[in-house]
Amino acid sequence: MAVTQAKGRLHDPYLWHRLHSASGIFPIGFFLVQHLIANSYALRGAGAYNTVIKVYGGLPFVAVLEVLLIYIPILYHSIYGIWITAYGQSNLGRYSYGRNWMYFMQRVSGIIAFFYIGFHVWNTSLQKYFLLWQGNPNPEQAISYSAMSAQMADPVHFWIQVVGIIAVVFHFTNGFWNFCIRWGLTISARSQRLNQYGCWALFFVFTGMGLWSIAHLRADGLRGTVTQSPAVAVMVH
Ligand code: HEM
Repeated sequence: MAVTQAKGRLHDPYLWHRLHSASGIFPIGFFLVQHLIANSYALRGAGAYNTVIKVYGGLPFVAVLEVLLIYIPILYHSIYGIWITAYGQSNLGRYSYGRNWMYFMQRVSGIIAFFYIGFHVWNTSLQKYFLLWQGNPNPEQAISYSAMSAQMADPVHFWIQVVGIIAVVFHFTNGFWNFCIRWGLTISARSQRLNQYGCWALFFVFTGMGLWSIAHLRADGLRGTVTQSPAVAVMVH
């Protein structure tokens, strides 16, 4: 009986939708916020940035943590998110014009985030593992300050990052607003309105952090002066 019930729950789309919603906050949203904070160390220069990369890269079981806390949740959230976007029931007619617009943008930003995250993972994390596989003793060089500033100096790369950061942060902060309603944290119209102000404030703060960090990297990359750093021996371009 218990097994049948458990099997029934696994086929329950409500459960999968709840899991999708929760995964957007933990671990994916948490990871996003810490990732933006870690990257803002670029503002303190090459030494600080490379030290942060080295600390993260040196965490015990880092590859296992990456797979369990980042790759699997993002893959699940993305696949289910694409499924919802393609086959989910539309909200049109149920909410106000503004909310419908945000509902639509949640899906558009999710699709942009999907391509951006794929590009970003390929460009950073997977490159690191390629260097490791090639026997490079210093795989963090793929994501070092000099590598990142050289990438940001390229306008195409820089604008992909700008669009990607805005889309991902919008998706997260607008998603947080939806999450609070879905999980009964904001029930009254007033609490939802106040939360909306808070979510917009978070959107501007996190977007600002991300854009400022890449603008700083780009400025250094354009100057072309970054070759070495105290924490990690890096590629010379
Ligand atoms: C940094 C990556 C991401 C973060 C932090 C994130 C976060 C969130 C959050 C917090 C929600 C709100 C959950 C709720 O409504 O209760 C959400 C919803 C959603 N996400 Fe993501 N997400 C990310 C990537 C993606 C990707 C790549 C897709 C792929 C298309 C996607 C598709 C969706 C969709 C369609 C919804 C709306 C679900 C609904 O209306 O019930 N997300 N996301």
